[in-house]
Amino acid sequence: MPSLALSAAEAAAWRDQLHASGKRLVFTSGCFDILHAGHVRYLHQARALGDALVIALNSDASVRLLKGPSRPINSQDDRAEVLLALTAVDAVVIFDEPRTTSLIHLLRPHLFAKGGDYSLDTLDPEERQALDSIPSEIHLLPALPGRSTTAALAKLALPPRLPRLGILGSGEGSNFATLLDAIADGSLPAEVALVLSDNPQARILQRARDHGIDAAYVDPGPHPNRFSPAAQQAVSDQFQAANCDLIVCAGFMRRLKDPVLRDFAGRIVNIHPSLLPAFPGREAWAQAFAADVPETGCSVHLIDAGIDTGPILAQAKVPRLPSDTVDDLRRRIQAAEHQLFPAAIRDLLASLPPRPST
Ligand code: GAR
Repeated sequence: MPSLALSAAEAAAWRDQLHASGKRLVFTSGCFDILHAGHVRYLHQARALGDALVIALNSDASVRLLKGPSRPINSQDDRAEVLLALTAVDAVVIFDEPRTTSLIHLLRPHLFAKGGDYSLDTLDPEERQALDSIPSEIHLLPALPGRSTTAALAKLALPPRLPRLGILGSGEGSNFATLLDAIADGSLPAEVALVLSDNPQARILQRARDHGIDAAYVDPGPHPNRFSPAAQQAVSDQFQAANCDLIVCAGFMRRLKDPVLRDFAGRIVNIHPSLLPAFPGREAWAQAFAADVPETGCSVHLIDAGIDTGPILAQAKVPRLPSDTVDDLRRRIQAAEHQLFPAAIRDLLASLPPRPST
């Protein structure tokens, strides 16, 4: 359904019609995210000041700036639709700026209403100046005690939302299994939303399904090592649809590019079997073995556009023993990965706000 909100220009033309017929326009503004009786009472009082009421409604982006990444609960178009169902509301205009100054100049409202939590001194000085220049009568209306969106949300007492992981893997999925163990024992407060693989036979897919977790194959395209543009798009779309906060590459053997990198910037983590920046790329344990280094290990890092080059979050060292075969070394690196990865993801999630929904 297209937005029922007016454009600023449409609202200005409407204001001129009202003015020509001797009617007075009341202007107010706000987020109106979860409508409650306090809003309804306030809007009726505002409407009664004049002959028509226009609401300058904060856009989704501006609500996010004001209230944090978990808001708004309802999209700007839904909020506009709900407001317009009220008998008190004649028009809604969505605005994106931090202040309504330019809308005030454009609409030149006869009256301006604001909730009683404001006083003439705490009105935004720029908006106040715009109102005085019209001039527009300013009315501060009393708030209805105990009614607020914050109070409504608190009453719902929703359990805190667990961060949602989207997992990418190409093979065995032993690291994925340790993440599931850590989630089960409470040491990793998260949930796995979806597992994707570029390999339809990958054991990681079966492991996910065995745990009742959604799992799907993504066709990587014709190249044996690359991930096609359509595959990149599919990964981004599917993880966004599953509302994932973090993408976890647990043995994923292809390079991620846009739109995944852009859509999940700073939210893609990888485990790599070497002490990066040493031995990026494939079979890092075998590279370290061939280079005869006395110690190697594993790294957890954020993914950027390079090959295993993103910021390193955590590392564990693994010495190469004189008796080691290449497989021994690999096995001991993997054992270190299984310790390091869940803890590094837990620490990362602790500093990562939920991904804003789009
Ligand atoms: C892990 O050792 C991981 O470090 C490596 O693949 C293995 C996957 O094992 N990843 C890379 O080499 C990425 N460059 P798993 O499927 O049993 O977790």
